[in-house]
Amino acid sequence: MFFLPSKSNGQAKADTPASTPSPVRKSAVSAEVAELRPAERDLYEVTEVARRESARDEAYVNLKVRLHQKLLEKINFAALEKLEASQIEMQIGELVRELLQEEQVPLNQKEHGQLVSDIIDEVLGLGPIEPLIKDATVSDILINTYNQVYVERKGRLQLTPVRFKDDRHLLRIIGKIVSSVGRRIDESSPMVDARLKDGSRVNAIIPPLAVDGPLVSIRKFGTMRPSMDNLIAANSITQEIAELLRSIVSARLNILISGGTGSGKTTMLNAMSSFISNAERIVTIEDAAELQLQQPHIVRLETRPANIEGKGEISQRDLVKNALRMRPDRVIIGEVRAGEAFDMLQAMNTGHDGSMTTIHANTCRDATARVEQMVMMCGFDLPIRSIRAQIASAIEVVLQLERMSDGGRRLTSLYEITGMEGDIITMQEIFRYHRLGVDDNGRVHGEFRATGTRPRFVDKFKALGVSISDNMFAPDQKLG
Ligand SMILES: Nc1ncnc2c1ncn2[C@@H]1O[C@H](COP(=O)(O)OP(=O)(O)OP(=O)(O)O)[C@@H](O)[C@H]1O
Ligand SMILES: [Mg+2]
Repeated sequence: MFFLPSKSNGQAKADTPASTPSPVRKSAVSAEVAELRPAERDLYEVTEVARRESARDEAYVNLKVRLHQKLLEKINFAALEKLEASQIEMQIGELVRELLQEEQVPLNQKEHGQLVSDIIDEVLGLGPIEPLIKDATVSDILINTYNQVYVERKGRLQLTPVRFKDDRHLLRIIGKIVSSVGRRIDESSPMVDARLKDGSRVNAIIPPLAVDGPLVSIRKFGTMRPSMDNLIAANSITQEIAELLRSIVSARLNILISGGTGSGKTTMLNAMSSFISNAERIVTIEDAAELQLQQPHIVRLETRPANIEGKGEISQRDLVKNALRMRPDRVIIGEVRAGEAFDMLQAMNTGHDGSMTTIHANTCRDATARVEQMVMMCGFDLPIRSIRAQIASAIEVVLQLERMSDGGRRLTSLYEITGMEGDIITMQEIFRYHRLGVDDNGRVHGEFRATGTRPRFVDKFKALGVSISDNMFAPDQKLG
């Protein structure tokens, strides 16, 4: 990667015996590595590269941070903001050249260019992680204190050689991210949700809550364009299922999308929203705005955390209540987590049908139980039966998504909620994903099959002139 300015190539090699193991050690290591499963081998190799590069990089990071500090003293930021990107680059390039001369550091043209672009990233972007933000193959960036950064690519976690100078450096970048969306992070408010300019979602948590140092988790925006066609291409659903989902959205059924962390809930919600007609007015409510709806008539609301005196918090609950006064045709809540579940049910039961949201749960039945808990936690003294009756009459369809062992995400089940029997919400599964096996490359294979239950919502389709073939619900019918 980069060469230490003070060492020649040859020296660097001689100085790092660990990177050139003896043949005996090498074969022992290769035997060990050969025993690893492919995923572990990848991780081993990445870790090994990171370890070898760390010594060289430390000096490089120090140089970069030193130059950056000097630059900060010299740069007039107010003037810089008025310039075009290419001019900024030129001016910073000039300054770096001057500073390097003062530092007496010999760099070749390529290294110099890299240094300039890294310093531009420091000044204008997010420092060491800027290249990861620009890397389209990276879907998540996980910073575990200043000296460890993991990324997720194609559903697999990998350690990277990227590191910050120290926790203060990392804190400065976190400060930059959160202040750009008008939030703050400090000891009195040590955890925050924010988003980057491109819409990527960021969570940061710092000491004293984070024991070893600041932690940042970034869910990159748009690594997978959330269209139904892409979900079909990724084998997450089939064409036939996509058509069924289109009918479900057109018929204005209320939908709950359930799944574990990172199982693709938000992506599915985005994709399903594409079936909403352009004539409708949609209000979206989120903690950190990450939905990307394509319709022309959308109004977006985002919660606000409390200020330094603990006042001024606007919760999702407040926003749902407010949204109902905004003449919405549809209300879309990014994810229900708490009391807003109650207001959402009210909305769904009082004419705002066609609403959609996501929820963190492991099965469709769990999802309804979680809604129930959220309503109970809100402090209303409602009998459990009445909460369940509200859920049963509000929510009509529950989808379950899963993140598979090969990193792919799939719709694994679709349930219809039909009503109540005694104190129990009755729901029936319409189709399910059957896992058939895993091939040599670790890819999961399987198929979607109908359970043989014809959903009652199909009658609603007919009334609305939405046609769907009843054949697809025949027992064991493969949904190709
Ligand atoms: N069907 C899919 N196939 C492959 N990758 C997907 C699919 N759906 C989503 N992804 C990718 O998986 C990651 C998580 O997606 P998404 O944000 O939609 O999940 P989520 O369940 O909403 O996560 P969270 O629990 O963090 O809110 C993203 O990087 C996204 O691009
Ligand atoms: Mg989500």
